[in-house]
Amino acid sequence: MQRSFIVLLLLGLVRATLQNFTVDDTSPDIQYSEQTFQCNTTTCPDEALKGVFNSSVTLTNGSITFVYAGSAVHVFLDVIGACSINVDGIEIGGLNVTLAEAIAKEGSLPDIVAGPNVANGHHTLVIAPLTNRTIIAFDHLIYTATLGGATKSTNVGAIVGGVIGGIVLTVGALFAALYARRRKLILRRNQRKSAVLRGITAPRPDYKVGADDGAGLPT
Ligand SMILES: *[C@@H]1O[C@H](CO)[C@@H](O)[C@H](O)[C@H]1NC(C)=O
Ligand SMILES: *[C@@H]1O[C@H](CO)[C@@H](O)[C@H](O)[C@H]1NC(C)=O
Ligand SMILES: *[C@@H]1O[C@H](CO)[C@@H](O)[C@H](O)[C@H]1NC(C)=O
Repeated sequence: MQRSFIVLLLLGLVRATLQNFTVDDTSPDIQYSEQTFQCNTTTCPDEALKGVFNSSVTLTNGSITFVYAGSAVHVFLDVIGACSINVDGIEIGGLNVTLAEAIAKEGSLPDIVAGPNVANGHHTLVIAPLTNRTIIAFDHLIYTATLGGATKSTNVGAIVGGVIGGIVLTVGALFAALYARRRKLILRRNQRKSAVLRGITAPRPDYKVGADDGAGLPT
């Protein structure tokens, strides 16, 4: 029982230390190997930017590299052709879309490829075209990082929240355990009492044993 309290408390803490960071296609942290075309409110029709993060998408026929410290990564992109998405050289996903398919699913950019929970650490994400006629439309990505130096102040609140949440859960579980124990004690006492009374008062069927309401038991 006590061990599960600790696990609950730790779960609250672990969740609180994870944080998502969004990186837009225009970020200097994103490296493009080839020429790019930036599709934004001045270069593209509004139709093309529906549902797009920060109203910009970068088109390229080269690869896209992003180095980060964290764990899971979610890539929001669309493609005409085929591309693979790799973390540290291991493929975590990919897309293969024909021009006809891309036209048919009008306005549904971006697609989402969710990375698995990569172990926390330094990673290199590479989005690579698989044919030389592939066009990648990169919108943004979200990566998950554990508590970092740059965002301490915002995380303190989350940790405090996590700890308080953990304490509430613990106290709740403690009360539930005490209540169950109390009920068991009452039940056992009633059984004992009625067993004794059965022995003594068997010939007097009019005698009624009163139910114990648990008053006077230790809480
Ligand atoms: C991070 O973002 C992804 C994708 O939107 C989401 O599934 C995940 O729950 C988020 N994690 C945190 C810790 O906010
Ligand atoms: C949105 O785009 C503008 C202009 O490209 C950029 O300066 C800004 O940092 C972007 N916002 C986010 C949240 O990435
Ligand atoms: C993409 O899918 C088509 C069939 O839909 C297949 O012929 C082609 O080989 C695939 N391309 C890659 C690079 O996987």
